[in-house]
Amino acid sequence: MENTDSKTRRLAVNAAFLKDIKDDNHDLKAIVDRIAPLSEHYQTAVNHWPELVGLLEQLCDQLALHFSLEEAYGYFEDAVNHAPQLSVSAECLRSQHPNLFKTIRGLADNVLEVNTDNTEHVTKFLNAYQRFQQQFIAHEEAELKLILDALDDDLGVGD
Ligand SMILES: [Fe+2]
Repeated sequence: MENTDSKTRRLAVNAAFLKDIKDDNHDLKAIVDRIAPLSEHYQTAVNHWPELVGLLEQLCDQLALHFSLEEAYGYFEDAVNHAPQLSVSAECLRSQHPNLFKTIRGLADNVLEVNTDNTEHVTKFLNAYQRFQQQFIAHEEAELKLILDALDDDLGVGD
């Protein structure tokens, strides 16, 4: 094996903790599931605008908690890098948190400015939320894959 630079600390995934955080996140899933039908249809959204405003604010708070738990317990700096490819994925996924949060914070603020009589304005906002939702779901799925890969790696590599 190649001699690696022992001073290079890389990010690793604390698979069991990260899995616990995801398994336990009923509140987050409940909010996302309530927003989904409201954000899919123009008329439904307009009819429930105050509810959508409240749910986006809740989603913002819940995601702040979710990301901070993941960052506090789900990832760690690893001095010995057993699996470089997992470290690259871990760095990439953790680094998505600030942008995802910035996007949902922006949406929770912008929803207050939308003129619900303006179809184009509403549609533009709903499309922006849909894009965020897709990015967030893709992020969550990639983290779950990372958890499974890290658990496999733990089981598969004896040292
Ligand atoms: Fe995450």
